[in-house]
Amino acid sequence: MFSSELLAKYDIPAPRYTSYPTVPYWDKTPERSEWISSIKTSLEGDSSWSAYIHIPFCESLCTFCGCNTTITRNHDLEEEYVEFVLKEWSAYLEEVPELKEKPLRQLHLGGGTPTFLSPVNLQRLLSPILNSVVYDKENFEGSLEVDPRKTTREQLEVLSELGFNRISLGVQDFTFKVQDLINRVQTFEQTQEVTYAARELNYHSVNFDLIYGLPCQGIEEITKTTELTIELRPDRIALYSFARVPWIKPQQRKFTDDQLPVGAEKRALYEKSREMLLSAGYIEIGMDHFALPNDELSEGVKEKTLHRNFMGYTPYQTDVMIGLGVSSISESKTCFHQNEKILNFYKEKVSNHGIPTFRGHIHTEEDLFHRDLILELMTTFELNVPTQLQSSLKSYLTPLIQDGLCLLEEGKLEVTELGKPFIRNICMTLDKRMLDKKPETKIFSQSL
Ligand SMILES: C[S@@+](CC[C@H](N)C(=O)[O-])C[C@H]1O[C@@H](n2cnc3c(N)ncnc32)[C@H](O)[C@@H]1O
Ligand code: SF4
Repeated sequence: MFSSELLAKYDIPAPRYTSYPTVPYWDKTPERSEWISSIKTSLEGDSSWSAYIHIPFCESLCTFCGCNTTITRNHDLEEEYVEFVLKEWSAYLEEVPELKEKPLRQLHLGGGTPTFLSPVNLQRLLSPILNSVVYDKENFEGSLEVDPRKTTREQLEVLSELGFNRISLGVQDFTFKVQDLINRVQTFEQTQEVTYAARELNYHSVNFDLIYGLPCQGIEEITKTTELTIELRPDRIALYSFARVPWIKPQQRKFTDDQLPVGAEKRALYEKSREMLLSAGYIEIGMDHFALPNDELSEGVKEKTLHRNFMGYTPYQTDVMIGLGVSSISESKTCFHQNEKILNFYKEKVSNHGIPTFRGHIHTEEDLFHRDLILELMTTFELNVPTQLQSSLKSYLTPLIQDGLCLLEEGKLEVTELGKPFIRNICMTLDKRMLDKKPETKIFSQSL
């Protein structure tokens, strides 16, 4: 069990390390020519790539939500948005024809709510993209995030026919008390129906997103949520810590401090759910994921191919990720690139320039060095520390070693069982950019 003292000591603002450098430390946006040439270079030789398409729309706002969303019931917006994403895609194809030749390994639809789009508009968006690239059906992962309250069988059918085979359902919590407070009332039957339909339509992996630390969520609520999850037996579960960032997402100001579990109380929710999931046969992956033993994520842990990117843990890595749509992030071997985050600006830039750059980052040699170390630690919980770093790292790690969170012996850093929840804190000792310049204001959510 974790002592309250330990949890209080380390529950500090910390990045989630879905990228390194973390977004607030990006400091050199690539010129268009630099961005394009970094994609081309990354695609040289035996390479593959993946794509992410952001659909920002949701019909109602869940008050816990930290995603980039446009809340609307106006479905007339769908068609125009699809046109803009396709225009952006054409701009990429024109400048990087290699995207037509190198295999597409993964296409992910995220949001917002991708199933805001009608079956016709899903087809209109995806067919031209899939028809213009090559992919090996056996080795292709088509995945999407859905809100079970807004998902129809017809949408899943269209996507299955296009080759989609993985689905992630937003669940968060199964109890009415919590759902009501977060403005997201979703019945067990709605979640069950979409789960069953996906399996019938050959989606071979179903994921549930759950959150711990939501307002008024206690042991009773997390137990019920985990029990019902186990009943439906998704292949994967993401059990996210509630990220509270009210300075960015004002809707989260609705929750009062006394409604929100923090420190030991919050951690107990994760531990309860974890214990139940492990007893039910799930394997813990990284800091907040679980998977059945035959799922690719579990294989990724065994084979040591696990990767972490903006979408969390993935079983493998591609050489390039092209992000399309408002706010999407792309990644080459040497750059990050983010699209305009505000819908109107996104449309304007797509109209005028094709590629709607908002900001980005060109990695320095030092970034690449630290990125690889952080990635290795986040995915394997151990690290062979390069000689030149050993003495400085030791001084940063000493308090964490004294608290039993990790060991550093003969140049090998190992995170202990006790230290696993504190992985974000441990990674901070390798975050050169943050060590050099601490943030002046609060920009990250709490680490626990
Ligand atoms: C785009 S949504 C999933 C699809 C769909 N919009 C839905 O809600 O069902 C992405 C996921 O991010 C997670 N998420 C969103 N805001 C969060 C926050 N503040 N803290 C932790 N997880 C969050 C939720 O688990 C959510 O299911
Ligand atoms: S949790 Fe999903 S449905 Fe709710 S506002 Fe966020 S993106 Fe939209």
